[in-house]
Amino acid sequence: MSKDTVSIHGIWASRWVFILAATGSAVGLGNIWKFPYMTGMYGGGAFVLVYLVCIALIGLPVMLAETLLGRRGRQSPVNTLSTLARCSGASERWSWAAVMGMIGALLILSFYSVVAGWALDYILGMVRGEFSGIDGAGAGQRFGGLTSDPVRLTIWHSLFMLLTAWVIARGVVAGLERTLRILMPLLFVLLLALLGYSMTTGHFMEGVRFLFDFDLAKVPDGILAAMGHAFFTLSVGVGSIMVFGAYMPRKASIGSTVLTVGLLDTVVALTAGMALFPVVFAAGLQPNEGPGLMFVTLPIAFGNIAGGNVFGVVFFLLVTVAAWSSAISMLEPAVAFFVERTGRSRGQVTSVIALLCWVVGLGTVLSFNLLADARFFVTDADGWHLYRWTSEGGMTFFESIDYLTSRIMLPLGGLLFVLFAGWVLDRDVFRDELALRHQRLFSLVYSLLRYVAPAGILIILVTELSK
Ligand code: PFF
Repeated sequence: MSKDTVSIHGIWASRWVFILAATGSAVGLGNIWKFPYMTGMYGGGAFVLVYLVCIALIGLPVMLAETLLGRRGRQSPVNTLSTLARCSGASERWSWAAVMGMIGALLILSFYSVVAGWALDYILGMVRGEFSGIDGAGAGQRFGGLTSDPVRLTIWHSLFMLLTAWVIARGVVAGLERTLRILMPLLFVLLLALLGYSMTTGHFMEGVRFLFDFDLAKVPDGILAAMGHAFFTLSVGVGSIMVFGAYMPRKASIGSTVLTVGLLDTVVALTAGMALFPVVFAAGLQPNEGPGLMFVTLPIAFGNIAGGNVFGVVFFLLVTVAAWSSAISMLEPAVAFFVERTGRSRGQVTSVIALLCWVVGLGTVLSFNLLADARFFVTDADGWHLYRWTSEGGMTFFESIDYLTSRIMLPLGGLLFVLFAGWVLDRDVFRDELALRHQRLFSLVYSLLRYVAPAGILIILVTELSK
């Protein structure tokens, strides 16, 4: 395959647009919702340290592999892998790794859209002042009221899915590039505004200390969670970064670009932590509440401190923008693939795929209310069952999809992508795409990709599956 091939879907104006797109994909609910609550649960700085190591040794090599493969293949991840495999004399079955990734990304989108819908509902709630002076019980009821109402959940889920599909349907340049040029600066402005606000709460240093002080005893608990999160937060393992790589200009340096994206994602996660924890402390609350941090703890905090209502709106707007720029990257691999495969217009392909995803998302909507007792992977007195109607044990539809994607499909996809780039793709092709000037640096990156990252991922997968 020639290195001068271009993608039929378009090409970014510069490497900066790739950085915007990949950072837009990476920065999402994972940074603003998951990272702060996981840090809260696993003991602050100790978790942050493990997380940073996982990003460097596993997350970045996978991101590099995806970007490089995408740019070399210039097609949707599935066709990229099958073409590159053919050119390297390997089996085209490698493309199944991208098929799994594509399905994984759509499954993530199905529930991501529901959770992003909650943020939309909270923007409205904050604007209406529903949280002023609210207490713990009130905030819990507000959240419970939302999740127990399938109609309200479906309306927000539909709206968010429409927003996502609209951007994708308009194409790589007119849709993605143009939207990201607005969303990403907006995201940074909102985040900085929130950080500025948290500095005025009088509890800023308490928040920072919590984030960076560490308790070594808690390190072991957080390791597996940190490794899994490194995949989710960088959006690697599903082909989203690979498809964006396919639109990257030839001249851009892959190494420094990937490093920039990883750095930006980490900076946003840490800034989100620094912006949120002081607010939680200022309201006299605890940061170790788990997933409820964003939708229960924070609203109480915003409802009870000066200026909280306005900044509550800013916060949920930030969450929505971050989720939106991530959601579009989940749809793109499949849309690019079916456009290539069927020759139909982007509009048609996007409508069908987004509709399918929306339908699967209804499963998540219902798993919070009418179908809360429909459980999968249940172990009870009479053994293991794939499915049971019970209120105890097992996982709801939402939890099952979240588990299946984040804990299994993403790491497995990531493993196959690094193995492909490190062991199947010709070394000279790899060197040519990476275009690093220093031999030592090249050897370091190549060994990270061939040995360190696959070994790390295997450890996560095996430990996860044997739990
Ligand atoms: N990186 C996103 C986040 O941190 O919220 C989540 C994500 C986006 C996962 C895109 C997978 C993906 F393909």
